Amino acid sequence: MKTPFFLILIFLNAEFTSAQKFDSLALTPPMGWNSWNHFGCNVNEQLIRETAEAMVSSGMKDAGYVYVNIDDCWHGDRDSLGFIHPNSERFPSGMKALADYIHSLGLKIGIYSDAGWKTCAGYPGSRGHEYQDALQYAAWGIDYLKYDWCNTDGLEAVGAYLTMRNALYEAGRPIVFSLCEWGNDQPWEWGDTIGHLWRISGDIDVCFDCKVDHGTWSSWGVLQIIDMHDGIRQYVGPDHWNDYDMMEVGNGMSTNEDRAHFSMWCMLASPLIAGNDLRKMTPETLEILTKKEVIAVNQDPLGISTFKYDAIGKTDVWIKPMSNNEWAVCFLNRSTEPVEFIFPWKENPFNDKLSNRSADFITEEFSIKNLWTNKTEGTTKEPMEIKIPGHDVLLLELSRK
Ligand code: GLA
Repeated sequence: MKTPFFLILIFLNAEFTSAQKFDSLALTPPMGWNSWNHFGCNVNEQLIRETAEAMVSSGMKDAGYVYVNIDDCWHGDRDSLGFIHPNSERFPSGMKALADYIHSLGLKIGIYSDAGWKTCAGYPGSRGHEYQDALQYAAWGIDYLKYDWCNTDGLEAVGAYLTMRNALYEAGRPIVFSLCEWGNDQPWEWGDTIGHLWRISGDIDVCFDCKVDHGTWSSWGVLQIIDMHDGIRQYVGPDHWNDYDMMEVGNGMSTNEDRAHFSMWCMLASPLIAGNDLRKMTPETLEILTKKEVIAVNQDPLGISTFKYDAIGKTDVWIKPMSNNEWAVCFLNRSTEPVEFIFPWKENPFNDKLSNRSADFITEEFSIKNLWTNKTEGTTKEPMEIKIPGHDVLLLELSRK
């Protein structure tokens, strides 16, 4: 007897709706490295191996970094069946061998593709090959996929990202899914069930305060990206994060600017994906990227992002509710000039409707720790004297006494 048509439909529907995002792969913001910001298209297996080795030997792995992510330009051609292969000159040992090596170091490997016909650099995109690509990534042992949005004319973002999410799920290997459509279609409103993180902006640039016009698109400085956080704070939590882009720490800004950039990415609960050359870091860069007290702000299990509490002249006051009734407070000096002022805690009660948390410094006392110097700076009983160099931060942790 033939199966009735409606039963086939029910079966197909059940098949399609059973796919989902892999849960619990990013309960705190993912930490790792990505090739693009420093190396652009100059990727090859030697660089990736050396970077993974440096992640271990430098102490970055111990600080929590785990993903070694290859961005655009790793691609070779599709074979006659349509399966993608890496460029054999750049990756002569193949992706499986590279993944095995990275796994042998206790790290994870990420790869890059694009929802359109071609990637942003013009290599084969996944459009029309989503299930094949997902199978290939799973067979190679990939752990993380960044999925870009170039050359997608006529595609609808939610559907395109959903197709790849389902393809990854059906391929069966848990893979962190990183949506990279630059915030064009408000991914914070729909990304939660599709991916683990979504870019909220166009590309970051190596500058603290700038917008660089590239004709059809712009890249953005640290301050400009921070300001794009306005209105999207409530969309993040364990397993679903706003992604403020890969970091530029160690790529040419001043140490003060790098420190401010890193501090704010931690306050924002952004993924911490380093974008510098890990094989050649200055002590200052390494110290910033591995500062464990600051990383703890980012990796706080509550997963609540920061909000701008106030602005005092050109200094922003950002606050972030943390576990154990603690707060992180970041004074961000947006100007190039140093600032000095008094901050009277008692006149500044904290109240966060989103997390339903408050701190009243008249009735409660908190001890203050400077998270960059590890020094205790008194308590909230007394007004605090604040001094911050240009383009830098004062990052504090308040703990109830
Ligand atoms: C886009 C992305 C970048 C990078 C490049 C690669 O611009 O936003 O992060 O992946 O493509 O071509």
